[in-house]
Amino acid sequence: MELPPRPTMFDFHGVSMSKYFTDNWENIQTFRARPDDILIATYPKAGTTWVSYILDLLYFGQTCPNRQTSIPLNERVPFLEISIPSLPTGKDLADQLITTPRLIKTHLPVQFVPKSFWDQKSRIVYVARNAKDSAVSYFHFGRMNNAQPDPGQWSTFLQNFMDGKVVFGSWYKHVNEWWEKKQTYSNLHYMFYEDLIEDSGREIDQLCSFLGLSPSVEEKESIVTGVTFDVMKENKMISFSTAQMMNHRVSPFMRKGKVGDWKNHFTVAQNEWFDEDYKQKMKNPTLKFRTNV
Ligand code: A3P
Repeated sequence: MELPPRPTMFDFHGVSMSKYFTDNWENIQTFRARPDDILIATYPKAGTTWVSYILDLLYFGQTCPNRQTSIPLNERVPFLEISIPSLPTGKDLADQLITTPRLIKTHLPVQFVPKSFWDQKSRIVYVARNAKDSAVSYFHFGRMNNAQPDPGQWSTFLQNFMDGKVVFGSWYKHVNEWWEKKQTYSNLHYMFYEDLIEDSGREIDQLCSFLGLSPSVEEKESIVTGVTFDVMKENKMISFSTAQMMNHRVSPFMRKGKVGDWKNHFTVAQNEWFDEDYKQKMKNPTLKFRTNV
């Protein structure tokens, strides 16, 4: 298959986007959510795949064991807004899901989420990751993924990330606006990548209490061990190993899975300049990120 070209970015209602996430816009906006749908919302590279897999195991790990070995995770948990020529759209995959609840992922900023999710009061799990590691992970993802604009050199990409000139726009706005939404929309669980790294068992317990699930001790233990970085990296149904747009030789999708890899990328000067700019953009004292665990 000939790969579609790398997309360019453009301003889309005030957010930098590429056509692979806007071409199907009407159908996305009129998507019919259901009350029992679960939307996994993140800024790119926050641990979407990790949390998608945790949720898939919590809901279907016991009842549909074949699902884990026969269906790639990106079909079990469709990416709502994706629309790449010659591949099924995320919206169509979501419509075709026959299991309940439907697990659906999105990177949309909160103002772009289809209205029906709010009307139906669907549950939403938002995952956030600190800005520095998000930027590093997004840079490497852009290098390996032809569905992303060329990220250029690290220093250029970092500047673009700070300016919100990356696909899905500003990290700062994304995490803040979803955080504000949590204050008025009670069916939203906001979690952090760093907390999952620190204690995935504790975070899974909190997720279960939000979702009203009570897995057995054995089931929970098997999920905790099944979702570690090393185990997931070896699982071909999860790691996008067959995704045509991705070149894992350039950088694997399951790359490092750490908090603090930013220290291997930021120069001292970049770090100072980033911290200064961060203070200006992150004024809400209740939203705090950790860059070390
Ligand atoms: P790195 O590039 O820093 O390694 P997303 O799924 O939102 O695209 O996020 C991908 C990032 O989450 C990658 O980060 C990936 O390695 C990391 N990740 C995925 N599964 C993980 C796990 N089980 N434990 C830790 N990190 C994980």
